[in-house]
Amino acid sequence: MTLDAVEPQIFTGALAAAANSVSIVTASHAGKRAGLTVSSMCSVCAEPPLLLACVNADNDFCSLADESQRFAVNMLEQRHVQLALVFAGLTDTTDNHDRFNQGEWREGVTGSPLLERSLVSLDCEVDSVFTRGTHRVYIGKVVSVVNSAGLPLVYTDRAFAVTQALD
Ligand SMILES: Cc1cc2nc3c(=O)[nH]c(=O)nc-3n(C[C@H](O)[C@H](O)[C@H](O)COP(=O)(O)O)c2cc1C
Repeated sequence: MTLDAVEPQIFTGALAAAANSVSIVTASHAGKRAGLTVSSMCSVCAEPPLLLACVNADNDFCSLADESQRFAVNMLEQRHVQLALVFAGLTDTTDNHDRFNQGEWREGVTGSPLLERSLVSLDCEVDSVFTRGTHRVYIGKVVSVVNSAGLPLVYTDRAFAVTQALD
């Protein structure tokens, strides 16, 4: 017997309890750039080095990543709250191109935009991608990593948060 799924509101309320790191995923193709703030990025496995990010299929990121078969993940540091808001479309800077006027950006080895002094930036080739419901799930093979020092920006209980070590 198949069990009924919970209502979306129950689901989103439950998942709001998760504490996730915040990243800006970016892609570039034919002179166009797109990027958005995500909390869905996580590791898949280390051998091979794979990560994933779930992106709404309507977002421009998807067409560019699908064309180029490449994307980048820029993990944000605690001082990047404003940038996270800009790349979530939650400020007056709503145009996708204008978003890159905020922060310092350069091209990574995949051609995808990398944020200077992000916590960590990871260049990826698309390993596989599939659609489930409203979102596309991008699994990326990591081909380059740039590390900087800092503390991660976290999102939990529908708010940005900082980490605190317990010992
Ligand atoms: C903290 C945070 C996490 C988010 N995580 C995701 C995510 O994992 N996937 C996604 O598709 N959108 C996520 N969003 C929403 C997108 O950032 C937002 O819908 C997008 O930037 C809108 O882009 P557009 O104006 O180009 O359509 C998140 C927003 C915030 C503030």
